Amino acid sequence: MQLIKTLVRTLTPSKAVTAATIAGLATALVQPVAMASDNTLNIYSARHYPTDDALYSGFTAATGIQINRVDANDAGILARLRAEGRNSPADVILLVDATRLWRAEQDGLFANVKSATLDSAIPATVKGAPDANGASAWFGFSSRARIVVFDKARFDAADVATYAQLAAPKLKGALCLRSGSHPYNLSLFGAYLKHEGESKTKAWLAGLVDNMARQPKGGDTDQIRAVAAGECGVAVTNSYYLARLMRSDKPEDKAVVEKIGISLPDQSGNGTHVNIAGGAVAKNAKNKANAIAFLDYLATPAAQAHFANGNNEWPLAKGASANNPALAAMAPKGFKADSLPIRDIGSQVNAVQRLLDQVNFR
Ligand SMILES: [Fe+2]
Repeated sequence: MQLIKTLVRTLTPSKAVTAATIAGLATALVQPVAMASDNTLNIYSARHYPTDDALYSGFTAATGIQINRVDANDAGILARLRAEGRNSPADVILLVDATRLWRAEQDGLFANVKSATLDSAIPATVKGAPDANGASAWFGFSSRARIVVFDKARFDAADVATYAQLAAPKLKGALCLRSGSHPYNLSLFGAYLKHEGESKTKAWLAGLVDNMARQPKGGDTDQIRAVAAGECGVAVTNSYYLARLMRSDKPEDKAVVEKIGISLPDQSGNGTHVNIAGGAVAKNAKNKANAIAFLDYLATPAAQAHFANGNNEWPLAKGASANNPALAAMAPKGFKADSLPIRDIGSQVNAVQRLLDQVNFR
């Protein structure tokens, strides 16, 4: 294991990516995953970021362990794991979002893991509840803030300094959101519920519905573009989608960024809601040692630098920092993140869904 860590530390992302490894990964995507072997790791990944190839090839280059990867969305991966049951070839599961990690843990899809590397690197607030032995079912490796963007011609940062203000009368007819049932929104609403309680949260959600410029549709990037186009005055997005536009060389993306202002809400209160991308060892993993080695690798400086620079996420391992111009521009002095444990947010999902139904939030 020490050898793995040493090798990983000496890699840089640019050295790690070669055309051959990327071609190999592309082939792996269309092949059925292999079963147990000393030199193999089967990953089911819901990370939907093309820049992640460097993450996987870095691990293979450092360890010689070949990765077979299945890419699907979170719901698809969880459905597949349930269907495969004990015969599942999955060793590692990568999911984005607190509610999905919590749900998968509840469904018994993860194995509890105890690792000295993860114990020292990953903060307690971004991993599954420890069992009697201090082992957790999942670990967060990168984070993203759920931020607010607004049309600078119509609104000021002071109009959207808090999440509560998204329901204020001033935003009537101006608010755009993706579906309320999308995990990113379920987690944001779950954090709100945890802080404010049921009646306040229900009133707030009803206020959001009242303020909508249109029915929820599209992804986060679509909301940002709709603000720039004037269809929406205010929208909510994950930080990495905005960072991607901020770092784009395309004139149309530059024009979008030019028109919008950014708010990281609740800096004077609970802090801005952050969500995580995390990993777990599958309950029925056949290559368990390799799976734990991969999670350990995700906490290394090389992998953490990838999260920051490849996909514009804030790294979560202790001591890691993001050297990313867009993230720095978004929060020049850093920002106050909501300190609620991620597992406490995920566990709100059923209560939030009930409230959404009650206020007719689609
Ligand atoms: Fe996303």
